[in-house]
Amino acid sequence: MQARTALVTGSGRGIGRGIAEALGREGWNVVVNYARDAAAAAEVVRIIEASGSKAIAMQADISSGDDRRRLVDQTLAAFSQIDLLVNNAGIAPAVRADLLSADEESFDRLINVNLKGPYFLTQLVAREMLAAVEGRRGQAGDGEGRSASRPAIVTISSISAYTASPNRGDYCVAKAGLSMMTKLFAVRLADAGIGVYEIRPGIIQTDMTGGVKEKYDALIAGGLTPLRRWGMPEDVARAVIAIACGLLPFSTGEVINVDGGFHLRQL
Ligand SMILES: NC(=O)c1ccc[n+]([C@@H]2O[C@H](COP(=O)([O-])OP(=O)(O)OC[C@H]3O[C@@H](n4cnc5c(N)ncnc54)[C@H](O)[C@@H]3O)[C@@H](O)[C@H]2O)c1
Repeated sequence: MQARTALVTGSGRGIGRGIAEALGREGWNVVVNYARDAAAAAEVVRIIEASGSKAIAMQADISSGDDRRRLVDQTLAAFSQIDLLVNNAGIAPAVRADLLSADEESFDRLINVNLKGPYFLTQLVAREMLAAVEGRRGQAGDGEGRSASRPAIVTISSISAYTASPNRGDYCVAKAGLSMMTKLFAVRLADAGIGVYEIRPGIIQTDMTGGVKEKYDALIAGGLTPLRRWGMPEDVARAVIAIACGLLPFSTGEVINVDGGFHLRQL
């Protein structure tokens, strides 16, 4: 069977890297998108190739419309189609500032990278996926085309989509927007058989959480999460692999919590 192709944004390090490497181990062609660190992305490509799959590093700032278009065009030029988009790239606020004093510059930056970027990248990729589905239906007849291969779009949001942290409101608002984005695209793309999912990681050990490690160490030890450990990029990657491998065929618009049970209310 022909290898399928995944585009994973921000996959030079952290959660995205874990996802890209896991997809490579499952035989996927992987586009390793990165913003600035070409050497880190090249290392991820090397690891995927060592596992026997194809990978290409592609620089693109997902907050730029031109870059998004180029990223999709280059992916199609390299691998002909996109079967899986993983919206992973994201940033934390440069400084955690109180809701009453946080400035518009931080808000615009967070919204551009964490919400507007994935929103319009998903729009571009969805159009390509729809065209590919239509093409297959035309060739194979309706029923067959529908089951030939089920493309998917996965967005990495956060527990911040529903957890209020008044010292990083911009981050929370952007992540909450991704939840609605998932529902919208899930409804719009359902007839084409394109599954759309949101993965909500909890506290995951990456560079992003490096600066607050001691705070979270203490909270986790104190029982903040029923499963008392840090999440790892591989934990998130496993959820993506379940979707990529087609293990959720009758679910779309679904939220998968990968958070050690953080979302559970307790009494
Ligand atoms: N670490 C956590 O605890 C945690 C929890 C919940 C959600 N998340 C989310 O998971 C995703 C990955 O986070 P991480 O912890 O691996 O962070 P990270 O900072 O280690 O990695 C983020 C990656 O995204 C890339 N990136 C940032 N801006 C970009 C842009 N404009 N264009 C292209 N790439 C860009 C970075 O270069 C980096 O490679 C983010 O969306 C984050 O909000 C993280």
